[in-house]
Amino acid sequence: MEALEAILTRRSIREYTSQAVPDELIKKLLSAAMQAPSAGNQQPWHFIVVTERNQMNSLADALPFGKMLHTAPLAIAVCADFEAARYPDYWVQDCSAATQNLLLAAHALGLGAVWLGVYPLEERMAGVKQILGLPEQVIPLCIVALGYPAAVPEPPVMRFDEARVHHEHW
Ligand SMILES: Cc1cc2nc3c(=O)[nH]c(=O)nc-3n(C[C@H](O)[C@H](O)[C@H](O)COP(=O)(O)O)c2cc1C
Repeated sequence: MEALEAILTRRSIREYTSQAVPDELIKKLLSAAMQAPSAGNQQPWHFIVVTERNQMNSLADALPFGKMLHTAPLAIAVCADFEAARYPDYWVQDCSAATQNLLLAAHALGLGAVWLGVYPLEERMAGVKQILGLPEQVIPLCIVALGYPAAVPEPPVMRFDEARVHHEHW
């Protein structure tokens, strides 16, 4: 799939078939995520790949809007390691860029995915940290739920809005 087509046709997918996502596709997703730009090329990200049903259910219970994790075959937690970061203030931008790459790669590979917000909500962060056994200096940005889409979603409404575009100054 061409890059612009992937960007313009991606949708959040919250229902999946039970088919497992093969390891080679997971590697492609992670390669796309790690190809993202980051401040000073610091690449502060770590990814926790989760497929065990107990872990998926625990994550679903920790995220009020993450109930699709009960049936998704795969989740990837996007986290940052502060100890390794040279420009720690930029970790959210860095990990968000990685997450968007991951979502677009999933779509291009015929998978469905949805970004589940964790940071900056303390309760969700504490729950995810405990379930995934994250070290003290590692902070979770989000969980991405993934699988093969159970249905073809409606194409997205185009969001381009001329009123949001300003030239030279506001
Ligand atoms: C920071 C962030 C947090 C999100 N958290 C959730 C969530 O907890 N549960 C969920 O179902 N979708 C979540 N989403 C997905 C949005 O609801 C979705 O991107 C938005 O409705 C636009 O739909 P689209 O992705 O199909 O274009 C989140 C998206 C972002 C960027």
